[in-house]
Amino acid sequence: MTVFPDHDGFVNGAADFVAALALASIAEQGRFTLALAGGNTPRPIYARLGTAHHASRIDWSKVHIFFGDERCVPPDESRSNYRMACVALLDHVPLPPGNIHRIRGEDDPAQAALQYEQAMQRFFRTSSPPALDLICLGIGDNGHTASLFPGTAALREQVRWIVPQYVEVMATWRVTFTAPLINAARHVAFLAEGAGKAEMVWRVHDGPYDPDVLPSQLIRPMHGQLHWLVDAAAAAKVQSV
Ligand code: 6PG
Repeated sequence: MTVFPDHDGFVNGAADFVAALALASIAEQGRFTLALAGGNTPRPIYARLGTAHHASRIDWSKVHIFFGDERCVPPDESRSNYRMACVALLDHVPLPPGNIHRIRGEDDPAQAALQYEQAMQRFFRTSSPPALDLICLGIGDNGHTASLFPGTAALREQVRWIVPQYVEVMATWRVTFTAPLINAARHVAFLAEGAGKAEMVWRVHDGPYDPDVLPSQLIRPMHGQLHWLVDAAAAAKVQSV
């Protein structure tokens, strides 16, 4: 677990982490495949990545952007994870449009999930879950990550890479990466900041394994590395940092 002292340390440190992986992946394999998390926590990190400090060092033509989940809303709607990423980062760096692989939140959820999965299969040219270079994840107050919410069928999906999921507690449809896809990644990074995350970070990181209640515990990369990038407030209850 990497614990940063404060907000600026967290934002700069997490952006440095992503940028370093991008440079290494591009040097090693000529591309960097990155899945973005939604929500509020990553927004300043994305903005930092889009500043000249980082943007000038990364060959964005070799970066491919995916989304770990999406709300089933149009891409210009305020709840859209795609829109958040565009405002914070994607509109500010020279990414070829074809390098942004958007989940079509405006479509029927099942259709959008199937279309995204087929697009990823074409891109990665594989029928088994591909190893994205980095998947960024947030962690919700109820232990969810991506749109893997407690007690939902998506938690038990072992074949599909991408599934639609109706989320009762939010009365909304989502499209989400499944655990098999996330766990195939080379690197997975939980991003958590603030005292409000401390309880859940502690329970997920140190508590008993109970993934139906704490879906974030499903995230156990098979061959890759799991990273926790947190600030001191979010790490306050964790014993085994
Ligand atoms: C989403 C995210 C979701 C998010 C967590 C944490 O679409 O909302 O993918 O999993 O990462 O809910 O959200 P915050 O960063 O806003 O606390």
